Amino acid sequence: MGKSHFVLLFVLLINNGAMSARTTPDGSEQWGYVEVRPKAHMFWWYYRSPQRTQDPNKPWPVILWLQGGPGASGVGIGNFEEVGPLDTFLKPRNSTWLQKADLLFVDNPVGTGYSFVEDKSLFVKTDEEAAADLTALLISVFNRDQVLQKSPLYIVAESYGGKYAVTLGLSALKAIEAGKLKLRLGGIALGDSWISPEDFVFSWAPLLKDVSRLDTSGVDKSNRLTQKIKQQISEGQYEAATNSWSELENVIISYSNSVDFYNFLLDSGMDPVSATAAELSQKKIFLKRYSRYLDSSRALPGGDGDLDTLMNDILRKKLKIIPKNVQWGGQSDLVFSALAGDFMKPRISEVDELLAKGVNVTIYNGQLDVICSTKGTQAWVEKLKWEGIQSFLSMERSPLYCGDGSATKAFTKSYRNLRFYWILKAGHFVPVDEPCVSLNMVGNITQSPAETM
Ligand SMILES: *[C@@H]1O[C@H](CO)[C@@H](O)[C@H](O)[C@H]1NC(C)=O
Ligand SMILES: *[C@@H]1O[C@H](CO)[C@@H](O)[C@H](O)[C@H]1NC(C)=O
Ligand SMILES: *[C@@H]1O[C@H](CO)[C@@H](O)[C@H](O)[C@H]1NC(C)=O
Repeated sequence: MGKSHFVLLFVLLINNGAMSARTTPDGSEQWGYVEVRPKAHMFWWYYRSPQRTQDPNKPWPVILWLQGGPGASGVGIGNFEEVGPLDTFLKPRNSTWLQKADLLFVDNPVGTGYSFVEDKSLFVKTDEEAAADLTALLISVFNRDQVLQKSPLYIVAESYGGKYAVTLGLSALKAIEAGKLKLRLGGIALGDSWISPEDFVFSWAPLLKDVSRLDTSGVDKSNRLTQKIKQQISEGQYEAATNSWSELENVIISYSNSVDFYNFLLDSGMDPVSATAAELSQKKIFLKRYSRYLDSSRALPGGDGDLDTLMNDILRKKLKIIPKNVQWGGQSDLVFSALAGDFMKPRISEVDELLAKGVNVTIYNGQLDVICSTKGTQAWVEKLKWEGIQSFLSMERSPLYCGDGSATKAFTKSYRNLRFYWILKAGHFVPVDEPCVSLNMVGNITQSPAETM
């Protein structure tokens, strides 16, 4: 490999103050930082699909993937462990969503993953603040790119990412109407999303009892805490509710002998890097367990395929623009703490607002999830005030299949601009657990012109 090869590898360096970016020579990948507020830097990574087509009547879609946590890295987890083109061993993922759409990963909110703040007062404290930063990022990435502007953007979220997705959807629409953002919003998809914390905490004990993972004493203990959480939420004591939520998790962990919050068929104790009891009493455990679940099925920490090693060692060398003093995930715990006052706030009315504005909203949920259970999701959907909700609820579902098997993989139904997918045999991380039906689903959500496989 000659020297000229290295010179060619990164041909573009945009530096207009707020934005620095790099691209591969063929333009198939771009990444960079946007200074979304002074001293607050958000990292993004865009992949152009090799299947991209150019028919103006069937525009090629772009997916913005929003990870949860709060503080979990979309650039790391969503990209390398869930839907991106490569896995953590940098081997091709045959179920990558890149087959259906271009992918845009972000480390959101600032402080997550490679994103960073230069001053600790700059972490976001609310979902709306996160949405404002994401809107600034979209303005920076889309307004300079006419190809992207012709592509409808689908915001696809997982877990806490759903709360950012709905606030971002509204904030982006406002910016589009004001002429500040050049973008077509295609729709929003909420995968196992933390839209109504109260409905989720109320779902846990009954669900786990029905599947034999809790008994009545565990349920009674849980009920006392869920009542307390309901009270705290109704009084606007959100931070206290976050603490009670953490207490409730501990009760459930103890009475269920450590059920996995992301799949009730599993134990978190089966995880090779299982959290210790001391860590379970800390708030940041939500985030820690979240990335651990995905790590555990793949690699040992420090070894081949370990996400931390990949992000902090191998990829830094490729990306070239990560500042020396920035560690991937170095500020993640602080991201969670800063949002503790918003963590338990519901975002149901934002979903209503999007539906009323005619935005296509898709909800999908893994059957085996606990933390954002299907039971809890159905409960908040029933609270929607949108005029189509009664018709939606009374409709029948259709079964879905995938691959050559005749097994039922999912159910779906839709009414006007609301669609719901019930994904069977999947926990919280739907695309990881059921890649085939997830890929079909995302092709349908984005109306992808890609040939069906
Ligand atoms: C993808 O790979 C997995 C195993 O690595 C295999 O089971 C599956 O059939 C493959 N899917 C496709 C669409 O090729
Ligand atoms: C919403 O989805 C439907 C198909 O499900 C499509 O016909 C329609 O154009 C979409 N609406 C918008 C605003 O993208
Ligand atoms: C996608 O849409 C096609 C055609 O409308 C349908 O046959 C298929 O079942 C759908 N798949 C999913 C996963 O929604």
